[in-house]
Amino acid sequence: MLSIGRTSALLFAALPVASSASPASRSSCPNYGSYSMARNEPLSSGAYRLAYQRPSPECRTFNSSGVEDAIKRMKDEIYDPDLFRLFENTLPNTLDTAVKWRGFAANNTDEELAFIITGDINAMWIRDSANQIAPYKAVLRKKSDDIASVFRGVINLQARYLIISPYCNAFHPPPESGMRPNINGALYSVTPPYDKEIVFTCNFELDDFGGFLQLSHDYYSQTGDLDFFGKFQWTNAVQSILKTSRDMQQPTYAEDGTWNTPSYTFQSQTMTSSGTLANNGIGNPVNYTGMVQSPFRPSDDSALYNFQIPANMMLSRYLASTAAIMEKLPNEGAAGLAREMRDMAAEIRDAISRWGIVRGPAGDRIFAYEVDGFGGVNLMDDANVPSLLSAPLLGYLGLDDAVYRNTRRFVLGRTNPWWCAGPVISAVGSPHVRPGAAWPMSAIVRALTSDAETEIVTAIREVLASTDGLGLIHESVDSHDASRWTRQWFTWANGLFGQLILDLAERKPHLLKESFQPFLIHKS
Ligand SMILES: *[C@@H]1O[C@H](CO)[C@@H](O)[C@H](O)[C@H]1NC(C)=O
Ligand SMILES: *[C@@H]1O[C@H](CO)[C@@H](O)[C@H](O)[C@H]1NC(C)=O
Ligand SMILES: *[C@@H]1O[C@H](CO)[C@@H](O)[C@H](O)[C@H]1NC(C)=O
Repeated sequence: MLSIGRTSALLFAALPVASSASPASRSSCPNYGSYSMARNEPLSSGAYRLAYQRPSPECRTFNSSGVEDAIKRMKDEIYDPDLFRLFENTLPNTLDTAVKWRGFAANNTDEELAFIITGDINAMWIRDSANQIAPYKAVLRKKSDDIASVFRGVINLQARYLIISPYCNAFHPPPESGMRPNINGALYSVTPPYDKEIVFTCNFELDDFGGFLQLSHDYYSQTGDLDFFGKFQWTNAVQSILKTSRDMQQPTYAEDGTWNTPSYTFQSQTMTSSGTLANNGIGNPVNYTGMVQSPFRPSDDSALYNFQIPANMMLSRYLASTAAIMEKLPNEGAAGLAREMRDMAAEIRDAISRWGIVRGPAGDRIFAYEVDGFGGVNLMDDANVPSLLSAPLLGYLGLDDAVYRNTRRFVLGRTNPWWCAGPVISAVGSPHVRPGAAWPMSAIVRALTSDAETEIVTAIREVLASTDGLGLIHESVDSHDASRWTRQWFTWANGLFGQLILDLAERKPHLLKESFQPFLIHKS
């Protein structure tokens, strides 16, 4: 999620997005931020009459034959014209609009780089870019595929950023792109210090590490391209992740009670309490648990308690998965690093079991969203992934896990303070927007983590009913009024919807033969 909320977005609204060689910035190509506000024709033939929101071919920022083939194939698989329209708009949305620049590192002409924007700010978020590219693993087969180059380019550029400033979350275009950084003018006081010419914002969010490792795992598991990981800066990036994670495991007080100087502090001049950290930028105290602190959440909002369970699940799972890449590398020290990765993965998993499972309001055992290791527990879930709801999607546990089943009941109901229910859509929301604003992203995650067909179909119906005719996934939608929504250009959620449809084509293809027309909606 962009850390730039509705208020501070005004600060940046006037900044021009720097020009580049990418087709989207050709003067004849419309700005997608404005383009996606219009209902472009032809409209789909179902009752929702959804707009066609793909930019014209010459304005698309990357062409992938695998993605185009998947769209063609699905035209025959999907019965409902509105559902197909939403799929064809959303799956390619990142490639159509957000691949701002691709090229090679100045000091290594074999090292591909890809700079992916989240939307209308010319900066690359580590988490968002990982999530924006992840859905394309469904069409990634071998290292010579066109899309494989985007995976490598993103992994390489993220690796560079994670080495230079592992505590930071959003970055300017690389110097090789020739794009000049739009220096962030907001007032921040952050330790460790960073270079404003390189970093756009410096919120430390643990899921950035998970995102990088997940993308690495996805690329390797689809292509088997081991050489790639030994050639460039990947092992150094993993070292940086391990060192930073170890520093962020440290408790607030040492054994003898002295105060440990924190490795990271963040203060910002902001209108929202969630845009800065309490206690002069330190956040609330934590005890030692074995988990890694995440002062900011996957929404970019500050945490109440710093041990965020979903981000720790994600880190644990993908440290373990990518240790399997590391141990096969011939590089010096790789075997030792692989061991460290496995050890930390196990330590975090143990800590989640010990500190992250608590009694829920119904008296059953559920996962907490955040804890502090002193007994402080925050019971909620947020729509942004990683979330508690997404735990099986992260591969941390299975759908049948008993604690997860309980947690899911807690999350998808009035027990969760961020459950936003209504006639338009009932889904998890986020303090990043407001109560009552459900996030379609969470309905998509619900369907991706369910085997129950009515639940999946209902979630898809709700997402389809919540685009306000624009045919793209919004960030949030008022659960009682589909015309009140936030963000028309949210590539991450768009890609996730594409991923869901491709997943159903494998898992439950008969569901795609159903009608999703609104007159069939049955609400109890
Ligand atoms: C994508 O293909 C179209 C032609 O169909 C072309 O005009 C456009 O420049 C291509 N985009 C990129 C980034 O290569
Ligand atoms: C190439 O440059 C990057 C910074 O842009 C640096 O981190 C890296 O170590 C350099 N690689 C080599 C092989 O010199
Ligand atoms: C804090 O951590 C220490 C060391 O792990 C442990 O002995 C103590 O019980 C913890 N405090 C609480 C309140 O759980």
